[in-house]
Amino acid sequence: MQFSLAVLPGDGVGPDVTAEGIKVLQAIGNQFGHNFNLHYGLAGGVAIDETGEALSRDTLNMCRHCDAVLLGAVGGPKWDDPKAKVHPEDGLLALRKGLGLYANLRPVKVFPVLVDSTNLKPKVIEGVDLIFVRELTGGLYFARPKRQWRTSRGRRATDSMTYSEQEIERIVRVGFELARGRRKKLVSVDKANVLQASRLWRQVAIELAPEYPDVELEHMLVDACAMRLIQNPAYFDVIVTENTFGDILTDEASMLAGSMGMLPSASLAGVPKKGVNIFGMYEPIHGSAPRRAGLNMANPIAIILSIAMMLRYSFSLVREAQTIEAAVEEVLNEGYRTYDIMSEGKKKAGTREIGDLIAGKVGG
Ligand code: IPM
Ligand code: MG
Repeated sequence: MQFSLAVLPGDGVGPDVTAEGIKVLQAIGNQFGHNFNLHYGLAGGVAIDETGEALSRDTLNMCRHCDAVLLGAVGGPKWDDPKAKVHPEDGLLALRKGLGLYANLRPVKVFPVLVDSTNLKPKVIEGVDLIFVRELTGGLYFARPKRQWRTSRGRRATDSMTYSEQEIERIVRVGFELARGRRKKLVSVDKANVLQASRLWRQVAIELAPEYPDVELEHMLVDACAMRLIQNPAYFDVIVTENTFGDILTDEASMLAGSMGMLPSASLAGVPKKGVNIFGMYEPIHGSAPRRAGLNMANPIAIILSIAMMLRYSFSLVREAQTIEAAVEEVLNEGYRTYDIMSEGKKKAGTREIGDLIAGKVGG
């Protein structure tokens, strides 16, 4: 089959890990007889340096015309000045909004062999297999008003946590649908004891529940969820939540898997369904780690697992996705580790070695 893919390597370690992801994708193409046509573009700091904008209209249009988008990472100290007019992250937000990618899926799965690489006790993280559904195009990140201004009594700034019932409904539905295909437990996370936006969120979730009688719905306050994620993470199956809450909780949850370098993500423009190709953008949840850039250090597993998600959700190539996931697990089982998940007695490997090893297994 033929697929077109927009590739935006971005900044820092973005290009390092993207190259390994593409290596693995090409191996899949060779092995299973698919053709992935790659269209490279600029996003983030590199785009600011080149064009003055974090994402040009042409690049956004190029992405729109592809079947999926692969993104490395954006950001870095060079563009961090809070007074700057444009930031690399603006490019990422413009992609999410401009492509209508409202559903951000972040699975957290603990590989048994990595149980020793985390800071948490093995008995706490054993059996963790959960997935976050983070709302990605609304809430505090996007809703208006959003601005800074001067008053006679000093400077002020505001961001708004505004949601329409339609925005809440479509993301909570994604949570219900995913739960249906898993262990049938959905936790909707909010701050309904304080925030109006959360009260509406909870109300809409309650109203939808009768349509999914096979799924058990529980509401949890975001602070309690932060605690429970460390206390008993195996408790969770599917978690659906607001944009900012999801941003914070998923960094926390990444520690369950040992490292941010292990966690993939999919940002989708619709409800994932078996056999239906949904447009999406795929990226590791880690940042650009500028100090590690170009040093063959970064862990490419997060982007490689993101490619597996792309094969599954955007291309309906389930067997191919499973092949990548199995190859990742094998390489870990054989003891190869990048620095972030290194532990005693294991074999230290660089970005490229891990990419080669996984591609080698995929390619038969
Ligand atoms: C993430 C990142 C982004 C976010 C940043 C880079 C804008 O932290 O994808 O979680 O806050 O959404
Ligand atoms: Mg984040």
